[in-house]
Amino acid sequence: MWLTRIFALAAFSIVPCYAFYDCPRARCETCLPANTYDAPGVGFDLTPSYGTSAVHYSNGTVVDVIQIPGKPEYLELMTRLAKGGKPVLIEDQGIFQSSYFKLFSLLDSFLGFPFPARAGWRWLNEMLKRPVEVDDITIISEMLRDLQLTTEKQILQGLNRVAITTPDIQTLNSEMINSALQELDLQPWTGDCPWYPRRLVEADAVYAASGHGLCKNYHDLWQCTDEFEWASSPTILFVSFTRQLLYTSITTPIGGEALLRFAYDDMKFLDFELGLDRILEADNPDLLWARLREQIKRFSLSSEFRITGFLLAGESTTDPLFLTNLKDALAGLSEPHIESKIVPFALMGSAQGENPIEKPMDLTFAAARGAALYARRRQEVQCDCSEPEECTLLRQKERSDGQVKLDL
Ligand SMILES: *[C@@H]1O[C@H](CO)[C@@H](O)[C@H](O)[C@H]1NC(C)=O
Repeated sequence: MWLTRIFALAAFSIVPCYAFYDCPRARCETCLPANTYDAPGVGFDLTPSYGTSAVHYSNGTVVDVIQIPGKPEYLELMTRLAKGGKPVLIEDQGIFQSSYFKLFSLLDSFLGFPFPARAGWRWLNEMLKRPVEVDDITIISEMLRDLQLTTEKQILQGLNRVAITTPDIQTLNSEMINSALQELDLQPWTGDCPWYPRRLVEADAVYAASGHGLCKNYHDLWQCTDEFEWASSPTILFVSFTRQLLYTSITTPIGGEALLRFAYDDMKFLDFELGLDRILEADNPDLLWARLREQIKRFSLSSEFRITGFLLAGESTTDPLFLTNLKDALAGLSEPHIESKIVPFALMGSAQGENPIEKPMDLTFAAARGAALYARRRQEVQCDCSEPEECTLLRQKERSDGQVKLDL
């Protein structure tokens, strides 16, 4: 990241400078208008099986807007992306064990599922020449549009810019998401500026939503980074549990900038067979719970560093059976691998950071909340320059007389 910065700096500044701190950001020529600065920050979380939306208002109020289940084509796309774009393999059919299963009959055979009359289906499928493949971008933009429409009703205004968070799935990249946004005339808050992250992964968003890693002076990119210069780096175990899958990652977030510097998970693990629905529908759920415990345990043991923090997200994390199994999995880990105190704090979903949140948040919306906070912070700063003090006064004036005067 430092390298990227220096590189970007070299590319963007006219005056050559030789050390990082010698290079002040340019002074902005214009101020952000008050209505942009004060606008509600909107965040969407695109999980592999549903999307959520949250709004962070300028007065600090945060609202969970909506959770929208993915349509079958959305689930199929996400499964394909999660599996690296390759066709779904027989042993990996977890996600289709949902209520959408029946709608998949044609598609299933196309993807090579074990089906009683598989050959027959394939033949039929070829005869029918499956209707033109709905473009992946269109599938994502349909989900985004549904989130957009409901969110606009919540904020009582049009939405033109949004921060999107996703699990760290390589093939679900920012190019794809930004193209989907383009179809809706929506601007992204990621990948829009060389100084800020290209993407926002769920683990980072949840970390921020829980009040961690947030710099106080986010209006100043450099100062923001300095605030965390001497802080020890945590190693976070992130567990997202939904009706369709278990996603876990280990990440070493470093606070700074508007939120965080890094936008990827160091290690990750995703299992479509370990979603809550699949477990509960199984003939022998105990077997799958045991597998879940084993996966989390083995995953945590393989971390290079001792795990110091723990974050939960997803629609099914409050399931008592899940919590019991998770506790068991982590209790089996010894002190060298995990800090013993982390479990109770994380299970409550509460924050212990610098900006404590009063009541536990709904973990279904945790990542969307982090994205909304990111949008809020980003819309108060300009990409490649620092606003002078006068801007604050100008905006105050603008708010009081509703008059627009942007030039200094
Ligand atoms: C903050 O603003 C929102 C939207 O204008 C409003 O609904 C909410 O009640 C406000 N919260 C507080 C604490 O004033």
